[in-house]
Amino acid sequence: MHGNGDKAPLYKENLTPEQLLKIIFDYTAKIANDQRLDSVLILMANMGRELVLADRCAVWLVDQLREELFTVVAHGVGELRIPYGSGLVGASICSGEPIFIDDAYKDDRHNRDSDAKTGYRTKAIMTIPFRNNDGEIIGAYQAINKLTKEERFSERDLEYLSLAASYTGKSLESVMLHEEIFATQKEIIETMGEIGESRSKETGKHVRRVSQYSYLIALGLGMTEQEADRLRRASPMHDIGKVAIPDAILQKSGKLTEEEFELMKSHTVIGYELLRHSRRELLLTAAIVAHQHHEKWDGSGYPQGLRGEDIHIYGRITAVADVFDALGSARVYKPAWELERILSLFEQERGRHFDPRVVDAFLAQLPLILEVRDRESDV
Ligand code: C2E
Ligand code: SIN
Ligand code: SIN
Ligand code: FE
Ligand code: FE
Repeated sequence: MHGNGDKAPLYKENLTPEQLLKIIFDYTAKIANDQRLDSVLILMANMGRELVLADRCAVWLVDQLREELFTVVAHGVGELRIPYGSGLVGASICSGEPIFIDDAYKDDRHNRDSDAKTGYRTKAIMTIPFRNNDGEIIGAYQAINKLTKEERFSERDLEYLSLAASYTGKSLESVMLHEEIFATQKEIIETMGEIGESRSKETGKHVRRVSQYSYLIALGLGMTEQEADRLRRASPMHDIGKVAIPDAILQKSGKLTEEEFELMKSHTVIGYELLRHSRRELLLTAAIVAHQHHEKWDGSGYPQGLRGEDIHIYGRITAVADVFDALGSARVYKPAWELERILSLFEQERGRHFDPRVVDAFLAQLPLILEVRDRESDV
């Protein structure tokens, strides 16, 4: 028997970080791939609902002309319109602050009209305004009724929905302005990469530089613009698996013990596992790069110990780009190296750590690579 008629409601369990990332990956990829406002709003609402385990989630937008707030998606409800400034969602949009209450009926900012019409009982509510690129508030996320045992939203939910809101504010605007959605997708992926990097105190700039270097090297190898561009967009995710590595290891100022390094190595497999279930080609490419960027040409790398051309060309390219940038940057565990010292390491590792052809393409592109390095420097 599956019916739970008169039994207690079926509560949900809080999400693991892996589940959370998967939701973000899946939805942001879908959102970035969609150009229609109404379907983007539905995807956003679904993402919000899944991220915070809400029963319903609505994305409200400001209608400047009519001085109203409207939503085309409230789970189980059609379009709703309310005067600008009314309800909790209006209060949140006016103040620019999130609101987060445990029982809507005990708060008189809540407008019970829609419940009266639909027979729904709104209890816990969390509302988060979101902004466009110019910092203007253009709408709000509103999550209704928490499906875990506590039946209320937590600080953590606020964080997750804020994260969703920070992406979606931007993707929404670009849809609304009929902009190239491609830019949003790129930004989302970079942001995801930056989340991984920021955990290890490396800057988001590292991610962007590695991405540009990989692109230049790919072109230097004679790849088409399209192939090179695919790598440029996928490589920011190469270290995403570091999100699962403990801070004590990531931020250790000294050398890692053998045991710690073993754990560190798992960032390749973790990144691969996070990304490989996607149906999007771009994320599948990112999965390969995350998996293979620490393989070495002579077979002495990890995690699989692949050798030579068994390593995907994108992995071989990202290896060069990543090490070039890691050596040239200060890390908690080491100072930045001078260019000469880096180049002599590349010479030494040509045919050992690195594919000789990739090193040659890298050297041929060095002037352009150094331009990127100056433009995207950490300070
Ligand atoms: P990462 O800091 O991004 O470094 C990426 C790769 O650049 C390293 O992969 C390595 O191939 C190269 N690399 C970085 N610094 C040096 C260096 O001083 N000398 C040489 N010869 N190569 C260097 P690797 O070794 O597989 O390390 C993967 C990640 O593990 C590193 O990413 C970093 O997050 C962490 N890690 C490695 N060694 C240490 C350490 O001693 N202390 C700490 N806290 N983290 C470390
Ligand atoms: C909302 O107030 O955001 C919609 C409420 C509902 O889904 O019933
Ligand atoms: C409404 O559906 O009327 C808005 C709900 C609220 O924010 O109180
Ligand atoms: Fe790595
Ligand atoms: Fe890296």
